Amino acid sequence: PKVTIVGAGNVGATAAHIIASKNLADVVLIDVAEGLPQGKALDMMHMRSVEQFTVKVTGTNDYADTRDSDVVVITAGIARKPGMTREDLLGVNAGIMKSVIGSAMEASPNAVFICVTNPLDVMTTLAFRESGLPANRLMGMGGVLDSSRLAFAVCEQLGCPPAAVTAWAVGAHGEGMVCWPRFTTVDGTPITELMDEAAVAGVVQRCVKGGAEVVAFLKTGSAYYAPGASIAKMVEAILTDSHEVMSVCAHIDGQYGIEDLYMNVPARLGKNGVEEVVEFDLNDDELAALRASADSVRAGLANLPE
Ligand code: NAI
Repeated sequence: PKVTIVGAGNVGATAAHIIASKNLADVVLIDVAEGLPQGKALDMMHMRSVEQFTVKVTGTNDYADTRDSDVVVITAGIARKPGMTREDLLGVNAGIMKSVIGSAMEASPNAVFICVTNPLDVMTTLAFRESGLPANRLMGMGGVLDSSRLAFAVCEQLGCPPAAVTAWAVGAHGEGMVCWPRFTTVDGTPITELMDEAAVAGVVQRCVKGGAEVVAFLKTGSAYYAPGASIAKMVEAILTDSHEVMSVCAHIDGQYGIEDLYMNVPARLGKNGVEEVVEFDLNDDELAALRASADSVRAGLANLPE
């Protein structure tokens, strides 16, 4: 199989590295910066005999080289700096997303597309509107990362190994994020039974602020290792047709009482992209929180240039 990654910056290159290391697919890195995708791709090929993968990584500035990809991941755009929210990136990144989605689709009309550029929910919606792609073949990566940050916070709090934890963070990929403690478990037991309310609130806060915490340390940009790994996980589920359910920025069409909106919800992934949005059995408070998160995405959409 063939995976194209648009944007050979921190997130795109890290995703390429992980996809190659797992031997999942040939990877084409494409960027507007001349030399950057070629140099990073060559560097990864120099790693091939050390890591013992057999797939190829190539770099290009020409969409012709991305032709007939099975999956296209879009990471092109600017990232946030300290003090910025993901929403502050909207103006610049909307222009980039518009130009990228058209060229990428022309080269790979049958691909499954994964948007990563922030603000995620708004950029994925923009790509959906611009491309006319069927909703199942267009999604965003945000929820896998957010859920992984929640899992990390739970491990830190309880001292448990990562394999024991299943975590769910959904909703807007931003300050309006929603965590589901009742469905977040350690060896099958909900964390609401393992921690007091203050501790639960603490791990939720660590999840919601996780991205900002990284930005505050780095100062020059935002996270890329965990985002890269999260992209690779989604690509793997699609390429292997795994039918795995994970938190995906998917098109919601009536589920949870939410109409026509891209936001993170549990979704089943397979070779055709999103197979279904999965509805968890939420209580009234959880439903209200998810719908409030949907409202925060709608507020962001109102800022989209026509
Ligand atoms: P970066 O600055 O390291 O890389 C961005 C790359 O995009 C640069 O190499 C740049 O030359 C390229 N680019 C710009 N315009 C382009 C165009 N029209 N076509 C092709 N390439 C173009 O940024 P980084 O850290 O890789 O982040 C990329 C994006 O991903 C940002 O918007 C960031 O906010 C977002 N992000 C999203 C996450 C999520 O969970 N959805 C997690 C982490 C980052």
